[in-house]
Amino acid sequence: MSRFYITTPIYYVNDVPHIGHAYTTTAADVAARFHRLLGEDVFFLTGTDEHGTKVEQAAAARGLTPQEHVDEVVTKFKEVAAKVGASNDFFIRTTDPEHEAFVQQFVQRCYEAGDIYKSSYSGLYCPACEAYYTDENLVEGLCPDHGTPPVHMEEENYFFRLSAFQDRLVAHYKAHPDFVRPKHRYNEALSFIEQGLEDISISRANLKWGIGVPWDENQVIYVWVDALINYLSALHYAPGEDLLARFWPANCHVMAQDILKFHGIIWPALLMSAGYELPEHLFIHGYLKLGGEKMSKTRGNVMDPFPLIEQYGADPFRYYCLREVSFGQDGMVSEEGFKARYNSELANELGNLLSRSASMIGKYRGGVVPATEGRDPAESPLAAEAEATAATVKTQLEEMDLSAALESAWVFVRRLNRYVEEQAPWKLAKQAQSEDQAAAADASAALDATLWDLAEGLRFLSVILHPFIPATADAIRERMGLAPEVAWSDARWGLTVAGAVVTAGSPLFPRIED
Ligand code: MSP
Repeated sequence: MSRFYITTPIYYVNDVPHIGHAYTTTAADVAARFHRLLGEDVFFLTGTDEHGTKVEQAAAARGLTPQEHVDEVVTKFKEVAAKVGASNDFFIRTTDPEHEAFVQQFVQRCYEAGDIYKSSYSGLYCPACEAYYTDENLVEGLCPDHGTPPVHMEEENYFFRLSAFQDRLVAHYKAHPDFVRPKHRYNEALSFIEQGLEDISISRANLKWGIGVPWDENQVIYVWVDALINYLSALHYAPGEDLLARFWPANCHVMAQDILKFHGIIWPALLMSAGYELPEHLFIHGYLKLGGEKMSKTRGNVMDPFPLIEQYGADPFRYYCLREVSFGQDGMVSEEGFKARYNSELANELGNLLSRSASMIGKYRGGVVPATEGRDPAESPLAAEAEATAATVKTQLEEMDLSAALESAWVFVRRLNRYVEEQAPWKLAKQAQSEDQAAAADASAALDATLWDLAEGLRFLSVILHPFIPATADAIRERMGLAPEVAWSDARWGLTVAGAVVTAGSPLFPRIED
């Protein structure tokens, strides 16, 4: 059986969760659910990054100990995962004692491999990034990501010989042209490596809130090294058998471009040093922007997804984010945009398709999907298009082209609505009452075929839309009298069995009125 291991970044607990975090988790969840539908052995990891200066400062500002602070904030991040309907198999916290022990072992391996040495460091440091900058990396003297001035830092630290991994990293990138997706992010990471890598400081002397360096009690491990190792440590102690052997190397680390360098350069070098295989892919999506800027607590322009989710459910939120923003590129989001897509696409297109189909099956066939005697399902005018849609959506999902996959699936939603207009079942029902017996029989057979096609189209949609809007897909199946179990192998035309009992019910997506 093939297996699939996908991760989100572990989020900082000094920030409040916002739509950006919810977006990454949702995207990774779509991929995890798709791979489960394929029948693969899937492990989906998310969690929180709980050490470091920023957390220590955030706790102090609230008059709490770091542990009290993280224990409180972590619940908000666990809620994000639950509220977006994430099907994560584990939630890692870097303050878990098992993670801490694993990080120490990992760093010890790098030390024993001769890749860590002690030296003094002085330079410019952005506390918000937890990273050092050179003058050339700054934009007008400010952190390129946070727009805040860096501080001067001088310390004796342990350094990781990142420079020694340059050639191996370049070779890995060249041998794996889809190591980082999309391509422009691959090019960005590779050219950064090719410009030359400097060794990095991987410990801090003036910080208490972190994991101790195993061979030096006066230093703690740099928070980014601690954090990156989560992708491995979780497999070491999450419940389940042989997770490390079963799931490492990861198939896909999902994140935005802000942390590409850490994942595309430092992480693979650390893995090489400690003797682990490298992840198969990194997928770098874009920023969700509000009013033209990346959302962040520092900028104070965060969009809170929770009221929307509480009011309308996780699926409309999932649908909106993945539909509105081309996956891999930056995109604007807004509450107005959410409401517009909800009304025009979820309520008017998908919701309406389900309710009109169910109500016509109710009205004309007593709520039972009719048989279509002697008709091969492949004769349906929708058959070839459904098969082509399934193939396209599958390829796009395999390539993590999530928004394109959703768009392709939606073309079929629209096709079904057009089919209703073209076939006009209400006219067929009238003709089926005709006194001309032959004409009446033809119309009745055409009506059966149309209603069967609609039931089949909705069944088909409940499979291909499942990874994106799972609760809606389940609701469609229930209304259409289908068993709840779904598999991707059902994403083909012709499986509907006559006799299924259909219920109309209230609208899936009641319109949002202003
Ligand atoms: N703790 C580190 C990650 C360590 S992973 C080993 C971190 N945390 S973070 O809370 O700042 O999360 C950054 C990630 O959150 C981004 O890479 C992205 O996945 C997500 N996003 C945060 N803001 C976002 C947007 N405005 N838009 C899209 N994604 C956003 O970095």
